[in-house]
Amino acid sequence: MSIINTLIHILIFFFLPLPLFIGIAHSQKILDITKYGAVGDGRTDDSPAFVNAWKDLCQGINEAINGIPTLNVPEGKTFLLQRLKFEGPCNTKNVHLQVLGNLLAPARGAWKECDSEDWLSFSNVENLMLDGSGKIDGQGAAWWSTSQYDGRSRKLLGDNDCKPQKALQFQNCQNLKLSGLTFLNSPQAHIGINSCDNADVSHLNIHAPEDSPNTDGIDISFSSHVTIRDSSIGTGDDCDDCISIGNRCSFLSITNIACGPGHGISVGSLGEDGASSKVDNIYVKDCSFTGTTNGARIKTWQGGSGYARNITFEGIKLDRAQYPIIIDQYYCNGEHNCKSQSSAVVVADVTYIDFEGTSATEEAIKFDCDQVSGGCHNIVMDRINIMPAVRDMKIFATCNNAKGTYVGTTVPNVPCLQSSATKPTRPTTIYTGSGGSGSANLHINYYLFCPLMTVLVATAIF
Ligand SMILES: *[C@@H]1O[C@H](CO)[C@@H](O)[C@H](O)[C@H]1NC(C)=O
Repeated sequence: MSIINTLIHILIFFFLPLPLFIGIAHSQKILDITKYGAVGDGRTDDSPAFVNAWKDLCQGINEAINGIPTLNVPEGKTFLLQRLKFEGPCNTKNVHLQVLGNLLAPARGAWKECDSEDWLSFSNVENLMLDGSGKIDGQGAAWWSTSQYDGRSRKLLGDNDCKPQKALQFQNCQNLKLSGLTFLNSPQAHIGINSCDNADVSHLNIHAPEDSPNTDGIDISFSSHVTIRDSSIGTGDDCDDCISIGNRCSFLSITNIACGPGHGISVGSLGEDGASSKVDNIYVKDCSFTGTTNGARIKTWQGGSGYARNITFEGIKLDRAQYPIIIDQYYCNGEHNCKSQSSAVVVADVTYIDFEGTSATEEAIKFDCDQVSGGCHNIVMDRINIMPAVRDMKIFATCNNAKGTYVGTTVPNVPCLQSSATKPTRPTTIYTGSGGSGSANLHINYYLFCPLMTVLVATAIF
């Protein structure tokens, strides 16, 4: 008996406080930026505190128990930060940066260093989690007035030497999770994702006023298996894409994005200065374009090579969007003197499904494809229903070397779509677009086909 008693006592003595120890170990894992001397008054330079805290976090100073090392940036404070590089690889498997407070960029003229391209950048960090309800404010307004190109001299106006390219840049960060944050008024693009495979980006708010130039929401390049979802992006209509899909992107899923004002969701521009491009397997689903300058856009420069293919836009709501559907293989902006070229990025297998809403331009659908690449191949249109935003405005589609098919009715009709030589990839019954009669034929077939099937099925059952 006494042995059992002793055993019980030993058990109680050793294991009762265990949860307490675990609790302490866990709370130690959460590093607090204010413990590193960050003030958070919006005036003090808190950069050194972030540099030191990142070192500890990345080195995994409390890695005794298998949790996720976390650095907390507390709520209700604003941390002024200079250019910062958060670099890996880290000693820990995961790194969690929880930003509940706000991060503020220096005012123009108060930037101390111009040594890196971006304001805040993360590189070579695996399994990085960056989340919270904080605001990341790039204080960009002072840059915007001088960041336009002079059309005549083809030069940037004003002194832009220290202007950051991206407010937040991820470079070579595999398994990135970014969520919850609000991004405001970046000097240029808000978020860059480069060479990051397996990223999940969600619940972001990205905002800049309508007249802010080149303030893209999210720019992605050289990345695969990236999901961007459940976010609101409105960054102006002066060359600002809500999301821009650049070179070497593959398996991107973009879902439930409210875009506007802005330039819509763009693949490209690809093939600039003769570049070779490879973009494929892109799915854009359940997105809205409100007052955007473009909607679903693919843009390539003349003179490039490679391809942009297997791109689907599905379930798109339009509200006064200009050029809701556009492929532009003659893309050229003010810096360049674009001449006719003998090569082009091939655009193929582009599907538009279930578009609904209004166009602010008469030209609602524009396929301007380059003859040198043989035009655009296998464009599939399925349930397109676009109405004019203004009463009595007539909307229409234009094509240049565009080949494809349509399923169901397309409003406006796309009689200019040439029938594809290639077989349609979608398994549904496809009606080859052969001028305006294509959709008329379809109506007849539909109405004959359905009752016929009903009769056949009914006969089979009874
Ligand atoms: C097209 O891309 C989707 C992902 O968006 C992928 O699931 C599908 O397999 C691709 N189709 C082809 C023919 O490669």
